[in-house]
Amino acid sequence: MNEMSLPRPNNLDSFWMPYSDNRYFKANPRLLARAEGMSYFTPEGREVLDGTAGLWCCNAGHGRREIVEAIQKQAAIMDFAPTFQLGHPIAFEAAARVAEMTPAGIDRVFFTNSGSESADTALKIALAYQKARGQSQRVRLIGRERGYHGVGFGGMSVGGIGGNRKQFGAMLPYVDHLPHTHDPARNAFTKGMPEHGAELANKLEDLVALHGDTIAAVMVEPVAGSTGVLVPPKGYLQRLRELCDKHGILLIYDEVITGFGRLGTDFGAERLGVAPDIMTMAKGLTNAAVPMGAVATTNEVYETVVEGSPAGIELFHGYTYSGHPLASAAAIATLALHREEDLPGRARAIEPYWEEAAHSLRSAPGVVDIRNFGLIAGIELAPREGKPGARAMDVFRRCFDEGVLIRVTGDIVALSPPLIVEKPHVDRMMGTLADAIHAIA
Ligand SMILES: Cc1ncc(COP(=O)(O)O)c(C=O)c1O
Repeated sequence: MNEMSLPRPNNLDSFWMPYSDNRYFKANPRLLARAEGMSYFTPEGREVLDGTAGLWCCNAGHGRREIVEAIQKQAAIMDFAPTFQLGHPIAFEAAARVAEMTPAGIDRVFFTNSGSESADTALKIALAYQKARGQSQRVRLIGRERGYHGVGFGGMSVGGIGGNRKQFGAMLPYVDHLPHTHDPARNAFTKGMPEHGAELANKLEDLVALHGDTIAAVMVEPVAGSTGVLVPPKGYLQRLRELCDKHGILLIYDEVITGFGRLGTDFGAERLGVAPDIMTMAKGLTNAAVPMGAVATTNEVYETVVEGSPAGIELFHGYTYSGHPLASAAAIATLALHREEDLPGRARAIEPYWEEAAHSLRSAPGVVDIRNFGLIAGIELAPREGKPGARAMDVFRRCFDEGVLIRVTGDIVALSPPLIVEKPHVDRMMGTLADAIHAIA
């Protein structure tokens, strides 16, 4: 495509940008107008290497022909049809493809349009399940500090990020939190899973002591991404699983970023060796080409809710666009690509190189920790005095201007490239990042 023909806005006023410093952006716009493979291109045609798979979502790389064609074809066949009391074939096919990929026994799939909707859907299913099995006192939901489960009231409340809540007053009632697992004093610069912290899962016992048998579910990210790449300590998830089983509590994994190959396996559950009862997903499900999320549950959860209800609608929940035809087409094509190209296998193959490259930044000025797992890396910088986040934001802007897209959260750089990344891309990402950290030190 002729770069000069790429779209350029002539007015930035109307779009109220999400999670953005609108005032800064509109004075200093950084625009992306085209994407292909490992790269974005600005409206001027400047290449920006994608170190973040968009927002942890374009796992197969950008502009994949197979996905584009599937969406185009479906748009011409049937643009939309409801899935309330009706169905269309490819929504069922998409669900079956997802169920083939989820851990054994987690075979029922409810479609949403985003990670946030998946989080709220999972929480509602957990409550409905407890009620259906005669445990209607179980109305309490447990999250974890520094957890991110999107921006709906459920996910925001169960999530553990103060900054996401402070503007909005009342949260969901009956929510409590486990402590986060970040322990730099014992685990700084760990490669892969940290040694220390499995005992933090025992805090669930304290919450059970406090709340008795009123807890419905615990929701955690297998690897917390949005708060800066917090890899679970060895044994932590095993312990959490044991305690959930002991106390009749459902375990929900938010696999929105860990799903679809990011950890070198189809889902994080497989890599981590601990399966949940319910798992959320989004992002990589369609390679982000059409918005789509999903919640997968065990057969037991599904059957308890469905068989346990009087005749008629069993779950009073759903979205107009649940199983949207274009999203379903994109998901089917994406999951086929995922298999044909063995994206998890590619991620596994390059993980050791990725790990070494990330940890090579250890001596850069102001780097206080580096964490990695699968094709994720977190590089934590010391904050500037009185200006949290400013240092990393300067690094982000500098990297962008030097042709590499990174993501920052607070003073942590989080990298999560498309799973098709190759060694020269890794070298360029880490080299540009190192230069930027030095330049702004
Ligand atoms: C673990 C996790 N859950 C939920 C979400 C929310 O997803 P969405 O932005 O699609 O609503 C995200 C987004 O980054 C996420 O990382």
